[in-house]
Parts: sequence; C-alpha cells; structure tokens
Amino acid sequence: MVTVYSVASIKGGVGKTTVAENLGVLLARAGRKVLLVDADLAMGGLTTVLGVGERPVTLHDLLAGRGEPEKAVYEIHGVHLLPSGPTISGFLRADPTKLKEVLDELGKDYDFVLIDTPPGISKYSLMPLKLCDEVLVVVTPDLAATDAAARLEAITELVGAKVRGVIVNRVKEQSFLDKLLKRKSRAREIIQQRLKAQVLGAVPEDPAVVESANLRRPVVLLKPKSAASRGFRALAAALA
Ligand SMILES: Nc1ncnc2c1ncn2[C@@H]1O[C@H](COP(=O)(O)OP(=O)(O)O)[C@@H](O)[C@H]1O
Ligand SMILES: [Mg+2]
Repeated sequence: MVTVYSVASIKGGVGKTTVAENLGVLLARAGRKVLLVDADLAMGGLTTVLGVGERPVTLHDLLAGRGEPEKAVYEIHGVHLLPSGPTISGFLRADPTKLKEVLDELGKDYDFVLIDTPPGISKYSLMPLKLCDEVLVVVTPDLAATDAAARLEAITELVGAKVRGVIVNRVKEQSFLDKLLKRKSRAREIIQQRLKAQVLGAVPEDPAVVESANLRRPVVLLKPKSAASRGFRALAAALA
C-alpha cells in the first residue's frame, strides 16, 4: 500500500522542500520505495536542490498531456524524483488538475509518495492536499508561520484532507528544541493545541542545511552528524 504525503505550509521559506528532500532520502535508506514529487511547479526548488540537471521529460510535460510518464522519473540518492520543469512556458502549460491522474499511474509501486508543494493558497497548492492521504505541516517557531499553519489546518478540513502532524523546523534555541523533543512539555502542548495536530519532529536552524543546498546534496548525506540531520532522522523514524 502506498502512502501519499503532501508537505505543506502556505508560508514560504519554512523548509517544505528541505523536509521533503531529507525525509525522502532517509525513508529510501530505511529500505522503502520513495517517489519525491516536485509539485512546486513555478519554482521547482526540490528539483534544484537535488541537482537534477538535464531532464527531457518533467511533471510540467505530464500535466500538459505530453511525454511518457516512465521517462519523467529520475533516480537520485536512492529515491525516485518526478521533477518540475525549468521554464515559465512549461509552468503555464501545466494543468494541476491532472496531478491525480499522473500520480495514480506513477505512484502505485511505491511505499511513499512525498509531494513538495508550493506556498500560498491556489489551485497549485490545493491540488496536492486534495489527493494525498495525509498532510505533513511544516512550521517555524514564529507567529507568522504558526498563523499560516492554523490557516492550513482550516483549509485541509475544507478539502477533506487529514493532517498527520506538524514538523517544527529552523528552531533557533536549543532549550526550545529540547522541550519540543520531549514527549510531554508545555511548548509541545501549546503547538499541538493551536494546530490541532501532534508534533512529529523538530529540526534546529543549522548552517549545514544551507551549505548542503548550495552543494546540491541532502544534509543527511553531506553532514549526517549535524544537528539538523539528527532531527531529520528522528522524524523519518517516526514515519517509517
Ligand atoms: N533547519 C534549517 N536550518 C537552516 N536553514 C534551513 C533549514 N531548513 C531550511 N533552511 C533553508 O531555508 C531556506 C528555505 O527552505 P526551503 O526548504 O526551500 O523552504 P520552503 O520549501 O518552505 O520554501 C533554504 O535556503 C533552506 O536551505
Ligand atoms: Mg519549497
């Protein structure tokens, strides 16, 4: 049985793409078959950080009814990636309402399909929420991000999606990180009450993440001993 997760947030820059990338690689390392889907069709951030260069067929093409689906899947770091296309014209041709059809066909042989989604509220961000089994909400520990996550919660209810839990990323204070990682703490309870979902994981702010993005290699592979990698491993273990 395949489980389809959408990694979502409404707010940009909180770490959706980084979570999808590292979680995907770790689940694959744990022996699971993983398809990463770059559904941020305008930016294609996941495709960029994974360093997939030349890609003759992309999700843009499939959503425009062009190209063979099997040729749009690329293997990298043990995962399969369905990349976004590089051009604006490709983005404009892509019809997000076809995403379900594409993933029904391409996603069926995997254990996990992880969809990286765009920020904002649009047909592009709503489609992955509608078709997934569960939503992984990414949030940073600030008011704007938790507000956005609370809005996302309301949207998921509206479209009938189920929230699996919340990942708190870019945590700057070690003491706050420690509290979030405890099974029971006031900090954890506040977030869980506000967002009506359990905290699945917490990842610190870590310069190793930025370095890894620049080198086009997931931080869990480039710097496995880094604090961020430890956070991602605990998260993957919670979901595997
Ligand atoms: N835990 C972290 N520590 C430091 N930098 C991070 C962390 N998570 C993400 N970043 C950086 O923050 C920026 C935004 O992350 P990204 O995953 O692209 O967010 P989103 O997909 O939500 O827009 C990127 O430059 C990324 O490298
Ligand atoms: Mg992104």
